[in-house]
Amino acid sequence: MDTIRTSRTTIPALGFGTWQLEGQVAYDGVRTALDVGYRHIDTAQIYRNEEEVGRAIADSDLDRDAVFVTTKIWRDAATPKDVERTAQESLERLGLDHVDLLLIHWPADEIAPLEATVEALDRLRERELTRAIGVSNYPAARFARALEVAPVATNQVEHHPYLAVDAISEVAAANDAFVTAYSPIAQGKVLDDATIAGIAEAHGVSPVQVTVRWHLQRGVSAIPRSSKPERIAANGDVFGFELSDDEVAAITELGRGERLIDPPFMSDWDAA
Ligand SMILES: NC(=O)c1ccc[n+]([C@@H]2O[C@H](COP(=O)([O-])OP(=O)(O)OC[C@H]3O[C@@H](n4cnc5c(N)ncnc54)[C@H](OP(=O)(O)O)[C@@H]3O)[C@@H](O)[C@H]2O)c1
Repeated sequence: MDTIRTSRTTIPALGFGTWQLEGQVAYDGVRTALDVGYRHIDTAQIYRNEEEVGRAIADSDLDRDAVFVTTKIWRDAATPKDVERTAQESLERLGLDHVDLLLIHWPADEIAPLEATVEALDRLRERELTRAIGVSNYPAARFARALEVAPVATNQVEHHPYLAVDAISEVAAANDAFVTAYSPIAQGKVLDDATIAGIAEAHGVSPVQVTVRWHLQRGVSAIPRSSKPERIAANGDVFGFELSDDEVAAITELGRGERLIDPPFMSDWDAA
């Protein structure tokens, strides 16, 4: 449960998200996350914090191999040439010779055919600039197409108690891949949920901890973000209790198709 193992990667299921953390806040957040035990850090070119993330990892006492680093190529750079160029730039900013997982951040069919983008990612994997590759925000049908092209390890998508991703999970399960949940605590909305609060109270933990644990027990990787050291620590402290099957099911039943991130260039989300 704390580690997801497939033929394509071995990844700590709990990661630290860094969207909207910039400058010193990003650096301090990653340092704190590593100090309190996170071993998986999620960044992206568009977050403009790869430099701080890389420095925080370098300044920690951890070996490079002890930290799983994911970055994402922005959709504007979906052509094979730009995938390669911007991946190199990311590595330079991160100060690393490889990342553990390299994702294409959003589908970008009007910029390059999906197959060409995924093939370009896979060439970087073959050159060991990344250990594994993946996609992000790919609806199930596109995810399946990507999997026909290359050994895609994961699809990082919005997923929380209010947004199920069953079609994507089915494609992942059938292809030795897994789902990574972004906005895993619905950007804080789970704090106001009576069902989750009741389960949290029964275990003497917080609603955020219950929600992170719910993801992990279902074989999903979760990458919660916080800018606050005490929350970073608490959000990752999820290995000392266990949800019952009924509790997991009760949270799963909260799904109501509520999508928090829906940019105008996306039009073919799966029904949820
Ligand atoms: N692939 C993509 O397109 C994509 C899109 C979105 C996100 N992501 C990734 O997923 C990560 C997580 O998603 P997210 O940042 O959208 O949302 P999230 O992790 O679901 O929620 C973050 C929000 O919750 C608050 N929060 C965190 N812990 C809390 C706690 N214990 N109590 C109260 N509030 C708390 C944070 O505020 P404070 O900072 O004030 O604690 C922040 O506003 C991102 O950082 C990024 O790495 C990827």
